Amino acid sequence: MTGADSVTAIVQEAMSRTADPRLREIMARLVDHLHAFAREVKLTEPEWEAGVDFLRRIGQASGATKNEAMLLSDLLGLSTLVVLLNNEQGRGETDAALLGPFWRDHSPPCKPGESIARDPGGGEPLEVRGRVSDLAGKPVAGALVDVWQASPVGLYENQDEAQPNHNLRGRFETDADGRFHFRSVRPKGYPIPMDGPCGELVRAQGRHPYRPAHLHFMLAKEGYKTLVTQVFADDDETIGSDVVFGVTPGLSGRFERAGDGHWKLEYTFVMQPGTRRIPRAPIP
Ligand code: BEZ
Ligand code: FE
Repeated sequence: MTGADSVTAIVQEAMSRTADPRLREIMARLVDHLHAFAREVKLTEPEWEAGVDFLRRIGQASGATKNEAMLLSDLLGLSTLVVLLNNEQGRGETDAALLGPFWRDHSPPCKPGESIARDPGGGEPLEVRGRVSDLAGKPVAGALVDVWQASPVGLYENQDEAQPNHNLRGRFETDADGRFHFRSVRPKGYPIPMDGPCGELVRAQGRHPYRPAHLHFMLAKEGYKTLVTQVFADDDETIGSDVVFGVTPGLSGRFERAGDGHWKLEYTFVMQPGTRRIPRAPIP
């Protein structure tokens, strides 16, 4: 019979025949922690109802242009924690950073030096030059470099009807020296989407909603762990308080003035050996 003291053990017993051992372990520990949490904070019925309704609204707010579930994971620091637990640090490799809710698969293949700004309107021109090496400093040739960024007004193309499809997204390949380069416009810091349940949470917590200006990169090649990362403008005032906790010291980049309103960014990426795995896209 179920009682307040026995319910956790009874649930564990009911789940103990789960055939998949990893699913069995994950669910057993999740129930342990979830029940301990409810006991610790003495969760009331109205609070539990509000929590269940919050999750229902997270699902309802998600769709073709928005992944509110990913956003919640980002805001709770879970995305960054999982990234840091699964990517080694300290051997010279580039820090990984969260994927975020706005990566789209199948972004347009581009030629070296091509501009990913498919909308000529606005923004200060930016030239990005990257080099990709392994832990020993040897160039990684033929790596896929997928880049995406927000516009000069701080919106991704799929959030903004004024931008063409796949604006500020593109895929490049490293040359024999492990180098790639492209043109773009300087990104601006932006607030995360605040019109859904995640926005409610951020407001209730009295937090600012900003991410410092950044470019996203996904580097992939057989034999290397896929590197999903971001390079942040080191002069952005929110670099020390990213709302989704994605900034590590190694990921700050210097956007340098290159005359008449142009900017230049150079960055070296170091990949570690491992498995090439392309993540599931948070939005189509
Ligand atoms: C992004 O960098 O695209 C992002 C990450 C987390 C939340 C919102 C946006
Ligand atoms: Fe972003």
